[in-house]
Amino acid sequence: MMPQNVRSLTVQNTTQLPPVLSDFSHANSQPTADNPFTPSLTSQSLLREYYDALFAAHGPQQWWPGRTRFEIIVGAVLTQNTSWTNVERAIRKTTRMVYVETPTNPLMALSDIEAIAQITRRKKVELVVDNTFMSPYFQRPIALGADMVVHSTTKFLNGHSDGLGGVVVCTRQDQAEQLGFVQKAAGAILSPFECWLVLRGTKTLAVRMLQHDCNGRRVAEFLAQHKKMKKVFYPGLLDHPQHELAKRQMTGFGAMITFETGSLANAARMLKRVRVCTLGESLGGVETLISHPATMTHAALGAKGRKEIGITDGMVRISVGIEDVDDIVADLDQALG
Ligand SMILES: Cc1ncc(COP(=O)(O)O)c(C=O)c1O
Repeated sequence: MMPQNVRSLTVQNTTQLPPVLSDFSHANSQPTADNPFTPSLTSQSLLREYYDALFAAHGPQQWWPGRTRFEIIVGAVLTQNTSWTNVERAIRKTTRMVYVETPTNPLMALSDIEAIAQITRRKKVELVVDNTFMSPYFQRPIALGADMVVHSTTKFLNGHSDGLGGVVVCTRQDQAEQLGFVQKAAGAILSPFECWLVLRGTKTLAVRMLQHDCNGRRVAEFLAQHKKMKKVFYPGLLDHPQHELAKRQMTGFGAMITFETGSLANAARMLKRVRVCTLGESLGGVETLISHPATMTHAALGAKGRKEIGITDGMVRISVGIEDVDDIVADLDQALG
């Protein structure tokens, strides 16, 4: 089954507010007895809200509409390799934004940014692309027609796993002004030192990304040829269903790889045995991090939610670092045993 990798966000009852402000209309909401959490703007909490809303809706093919507690109405579109017309069909009168993560975490499914941008232009909605996995070094969504790009700077842009942050890249002044207002009103901003850490990271982005990509290809090939491996998800492999699209819209394949070990027991066994790779949820740092999506990054989805988007208990995700690639391969080899 193809995972969902295009999200269509629809905002209701907010005709007087510009789209960005209305999306963040939760900024004044308060914790209650039923809901003790103070609303926050972190992408993890928004992601959690988003999935909760989706799963409150019906079945995997019709994941919408669902409503987050922030009054964002969300719907997901299951994409096919060759046709993006289902994105067009999913756009309703109230839709303000189509949000695409490409490649997706953790299944490495791609969306055709150019094809979707043609649809969103025609329908007069904004296209926002999460470019975290590729970084600006390997993928330029704005050149392909996106209206805004988001990055978790925690990952490749920082590159050293020592700061949390995010950035939104705008193409119009009014977008920047609206986001600036939200930052000022809600207060979710980086400290000067964290900004400095990201700036420091960008100075070596090019050399790091080249090495990540080089090591990523080698590790993916090693895993694909391993006798115990059931499946490897990496856009650089010839058998990736969107390998051609990857070559067209990206200039590298990057460092993110997901592989199927076959069972929870197999995954747990290898994760306990790794020595060079470190178990951790994050990604994009110079050191290789390895994780188990079902019990870590995607645990919040629940078993049903994971099954619907194709995440199994046997899957392991690796963010290949820039260490000597022979050490990484040898570590994975002994861990897979
Ligand atoms: C593709 C992608 N976008 C955004 C995020 C959110 O990043 P952060 O936790 O830094 O907000 C993640 C986190 O793993 C991610 O993988």
